[in-house]
Amino acid sequence: MKVKEICCIGAGYVGGPTMSVIALKCPKIRVTVVDVNKEKIKAWNGPLDKLPIFEPGLSEVVKETRGRNLFFSNDIQKAIQKSEMIFMAVNTPTKTKGEGAGMAADLRHIISCTKDIAKYSKTNKIIIEKSTLPVRTAEKIKEILNSEGGDLKHEVLSNPEFMAEGTAIKDLFKSDRVLIGGDSTITGQKAMKKLIKIYINWIPKEKIITSNIWSSELSKLASNAMLAQRISSINSLSALCEKTGANIKDISLAVGMDKRIGPHFLKASVGFGGSCFQKDILNLVYLSNYYGLKEVAEYWHQVVKLNDYQKKRFSDNIIKNLDGSISNKTITILGWSFKPNTNDTRESPAIYVGINLLKKGAILKIYDPLVKKAQIIQDLNNLIKLDSDLKVKSSELISKVNVCLDIDSAINKTDAISIITDWADFKQIKWENIRKNKIPVFHILNNSNHNVYPDIN
Ligand code: NAI
Repeated sequence: MKVKEICCIGAGYVGGPTMSVIALKCPKIRVTVVDVNKEKIKAWNGPLDKLPIFEPGLSEVVKETRGRNLFFSNDIQKAIQKSEMIFMAVNTPTKTKGEGAGMAADLRHIISCTKDIAKYSKTNKIIIEKSTLPVRTAEKIKEILNSEGGDLKHEVLSNPEFMAEGTAIKDLFKSDRVLIGGDSTITGQKAMKKLIKIYINWIPKEKIITSNIWSSELSKLASNAMLAQRISSINSLSALCEKTGANIKDISLAVGMDKRIGPHFLKASVGFGGSCFQKDILNLVYLSNYYGLKEVAEYWHQVVKLNDYQKKRFSDNIIKNLDGSISNKTITILGWSFKPNTNDTRESPAIYVGINLLKKGAILKIYDPLVKKAQIIQDLNNLIKLDSDLKVKSSELISKVNVCLDIDSAINKTDAISIITDWADFKQIKWENIRKNKIPVFHILNNSNHNVYPDIN
């Protein structure tokens, strides 16, 4: 029997786009995306140009499917009861309290929606881990279902999401692979087949791979760790370039042309950001330590430490190049989202650079094509709250922040410009005028001392 009704708990950066694409590609399946956040659901049901997240191509998909076979709702109980298949795409941030704080994944939301499924279900469900989870989380989920779910027999599968923000729709249309992990029992295999039947509507068969549930859970952590490791590797070399006169762009090109290495993820930057890389690696470090693998834990921890070093190095370099003092100097930050084509600012390097500069007395002008003032101020305030060494009041720091509505006002009357996110919009800037006016520009990709002009071609 084909699945006719599915739901997804969590209407965020993963739940929204993935379910929109499933609804588009499987018009006979009714897809309901639910969330505890009322504002978010209201926005998903609102105007297409104001959806709660921005992804190129997303509004077109939502336009075609919303109200046809795609629905957004706060009625979690009803969605669980009606669905045969339930995806869990809730957030799994780093724990801030209790055992493993600062390292382990916080599974509060996963536990809470598992409990909801146990409580509301009246029929057997196929429950799918879409969130990124520590290896062996399915065991915990099953324990909760067994103890709180009565006599029902639910199946748990792992189907991690590999899409990247900024290209989510493109990635979902043409996934490199779809990974499904499940039990080797007859019911486990049946459940996996039902999920395969959904993806087979648009993903070539050879790209749908299956494994046991633990491999599937760990593959996602491994994949993010390897991607982040490449960024930290090239960033570590950018520091060496600055000491030796080598150019990191030349290094990336030369290294990436080796087929065994490949050209992707070899662009030096101010560091990786986003909600996933750091938390997933910290989780991997925690798990490695938990299993007594100290050397493995240390190896991966270094990827995050190097990323912190890179963000600090970038702001230190700005200060050094402005004669060692930036007190009351105006510095422009171009780009606030953690990468182009998204409005997501979680863990964006811009926040860390911004705070470092503010702490040294700078006045900031900030511009991002998508991120609004309220979000920028909230990001800065959140980081300020965590800074126990801070000697000045947060309001004093924030009073030096000017969020600009257009590029021109951001780059006029400034002492220096730093480009943090590579938005295509910044290529339109008349860099030759900036050069004429002798305004230093800091951009990690350019060259050794950062104080050169962007390669606008
Ligand atoms: P998000 O924070 O954008 O969305 C999560 C949503 O879940 C929120 O809207 C929240 O209100 C909702 N939620 C939390 N607990 C709930 C509950 N008990 N009932 C109903 N709704 C609840 O998070 P995002 O970015 O979508 O990530 C979700 C998961 O997917 C995480 O585990 C993440 O690591 C993983 N992931 C994220 C990717 C990304 O690019 N953002 C890519 C691949 C995986």
